[in-house]
Amino acid sequence: MNWNNALTQLLKIKYPFVQAPMLGITTPEMVAAVSNEGGLGSLPIGLLSAEKARELIVKTKTLTDKPFAVNLFAHDIPTMDVPQTQAIQEQLVKISEKYGVTYTPVDLNQVRHFSYKEQLDVLIEEQVPIVSFTFGVLDKPSIERLHGQGIILIGTATSVREAVYLENIGIDIVTAQGIEAGGHRGTFLFDEPLPQVGLISLLPQVVDAIRLPVLAAGGITDPRPFKASMILGAQGVQVGTAFIGSDESLAIAAYKEQLSKTQDTDTVLTRAFSGRWARGIRNSFHDEVQQLALDYPAYPILNTLTGPLRIASQKQRNTQLTTLWAGQSASMARQKSSAEIFRSLIEGVEKLENPT
Ligand SMILES: Cc1cc2nc3c(=O)[nH]c(=O)nc-3n(C[C@H](O)[C@H](O)[C@H](O)COP(=O)(O)O)c2cc1C
Repeated sequence: MNWNNALTQLLKIKYPFVQAPMLGITTPEMVAAVSNEGGLGSLPIGLLSAEKARELIVKTKTLTDKPFAVNLFAHDIPTMDVPQTQAIQEQLVKISEKYGVTYTPVDLNQVRHFSYKEQLDVLIEEQVPIVSFTFGVLDKPSIERLHGQGIILIGTATSVREAVYLENIGIDIVTAQGIEAGGHRGTFLFDEPLPQVGLISLLPQVVDAIRLPVLAAGGITDPRPFKASMILGAQGVQVGTAFIGSDESLAIAAYKEQLSKTQDTDTVLTRAFSGRWARGIRNSFHDEVQQLALDYPAYPILNTLTGPLRIASQKQRNTQLTTLWAGQSASMARQKSSAEIFRSLIEGVEKLENPT
């Protein structure tokens, strides 16, 4: 099968396959495994300090000499409303006590939210070739600065309007994220209800609306939606949930085991963990916060507040108070090495092309 196309040429990769960046799950080992197989690994550095970002990039470079992308969170930095934040923390303590999870709430005086702008020097100094982003758009000076270094930019769109917006500000590749996708929605135009377009509808409409190469994201844990995405006009795919169960993933064992038991209807869109809409396997924390009818603070404030609770829950192997991000095709995710997961998807598409 001829995998060579405009996207593989632009990204200098063999297969039009991007391992989705997954903060809290993706490791340098996962990124390198996919890049070494001829795909594009993506290293998430959203929310991290410049020092930590550099450490992860340097580590990845020791594991692969192939191209990989680094992923940024392009949201604004919010100011914290202290009384609101304290009220939320009190609710979190109550929930933790109810489920027997012991944790120390965040010390609000120590909270520091990092902007992607603080990470740009590191990207340039470390000669990162490809930068993807979500949760917003990079500002004009940042786009010009990264483009000035020859860095290729990939933006996330959840609607046709967002895809056109990304093209108009000079982004090179658009990831069309269908509503099936696991993890956070990349939505950044908020003047209308949250776009909830499925990939099979979104993809051809985005492909028709822009001239840029389009990556398909959402529900691709099996060769069939991979091939279908290419038929619908994608130049490549971005795959997340399929790698959560991989050997190189940071997911705890109970999370990995839950994936294959997840049915098509078991994931929900929730704001409970971070204040931003995200898809994960429904658990008690989602249900508890839903009942509180919170006035959600701007991202990433709630994410910061729930952080220690999620970590404590994981340490106690309790999946009820931590994030279980997963897409609607989670049941098809397997516990194997990242290289095996990658190869089974590529070989699966090749078999669909030549069924002998
Ligand atoms: C656990 C998890 C974490 C994610 N974290 C990020 C992230 O840090 N940055 C990002 O751009 N997308 C993130 N995503 C979204 C993916 O980029 C992608 O849109 C999604 O995984 C595609 O759908 P799928 O999970 O069904 O394959 C995450 C997805 C998951 C499942």
